[in-house]
Amino acid sequence: MIIDSPAELTDAVLAELEGAADPRFREIVGAAVRHLHAFVREVRLTETEFQQACAVIARLGQATTASHNEVVLMAGSLGVSALVCLQNNATRGGAPTTANLLGPFWRQDSPITEDGGSIVRSPTAGDPIFVTAWIADSAGRPVAGAVVDVWQASADGFYENQDPAQADMNLRGRFVSDAAGRIRFRSIKPSGYPIPVNGPVGDLLRAQGRHNLRPAHIHFLIAKPGYKTQFAQVYSDDDPHLGTDVQFAVTRALIGRYVSHRDEAAPDSDVQGTWYTLEHRFVIEPGESRLPRAPITGKVEGPRPERVVLDRKQLP
Ligand SMILES: [Fe+2]
Repeated sequence: MIIDSPAELTDAVLAELEGAADPRFREIVGAAVRHLHAFVREVRLTETEFQQACAVIARLGQATTASHNEVVLMAGSLGVSALVCLQNNATRGGAPTTANLLGPFWRQDSPITEDGGSIVRSPTAGDPIFVTAWIADSAGRPVAGAVVDVWQASADGFYENQDPAQADMNLRGRFVSDAAGRIRFRSIKPSGYPIPVNGPVGDLLRAQGRHNLRPAHIHFLIAKPGYKTQFAQVYSDDDPHLGTDVQFAVTRALIGRYVSHRDEAAPDSDVQGTWYTLEHRFVIEPGESRLPRAPITGKVEGPRPERVVLDRKQLP
């Protein structure tokens, strides 16, 4: 088709989709073309701005490595990840979903760990925490035999893949739920952490005057044949950034009670001083059990990255 006007252009691109055999592909790419063209028209995108946009997208890919995923961080920072999660895990029967974002830091094949075992695999500062998670179906029945992957950042705010000082797979482990649908493990109380800001995501946040902090949390990935694989994060109720999470991921169903204990005997006799407990209940739905594609596959090499925290501008 010879193009004589901007209006004809959109029609010409959409017409080429008729050659696509997959109807879902036609639907998704067709909507993307229509919305992209409408976006260019609405903001009257200049040639310079178009070149800048292409450069940002290219940098997202170039900044993504085996140990870092800038694309996932950007999707989260624009609220797209949270929208996809909420749209696909709707409230059922009045109970809000316990599903949440997978995030950019899940690694496959973390060590299978015995019930009640520790996921601290190299010396790691922080207060001990004893976590109990309960897995149930939507009728409230316990789900036994679910494989539950857990992972978290250190008290310094680094996942082991970001931090050469931590052992491989530190603060990561897999557990199998018992007949009561329960898993238990020992770790250290997580801290909130800044997401990396040395790439396009940092440019976005600085331009908006946003901080780059995530409230403290522990990640869970729950898999069992016959059930939709669930990703979840349980946020610490004492974190000051629950309302301004840079990834827009905090929901009320996922704010956990991190209970502090002092002058009480801990479950493990080596624990002194302050320690914590967390109990949380997850509801999984019938569906397809399928592990996601891991956003990262290994640990960073070289020095530990600098910890950079951006200030949040006070909004009127
Ligand atoms: Fe995280």
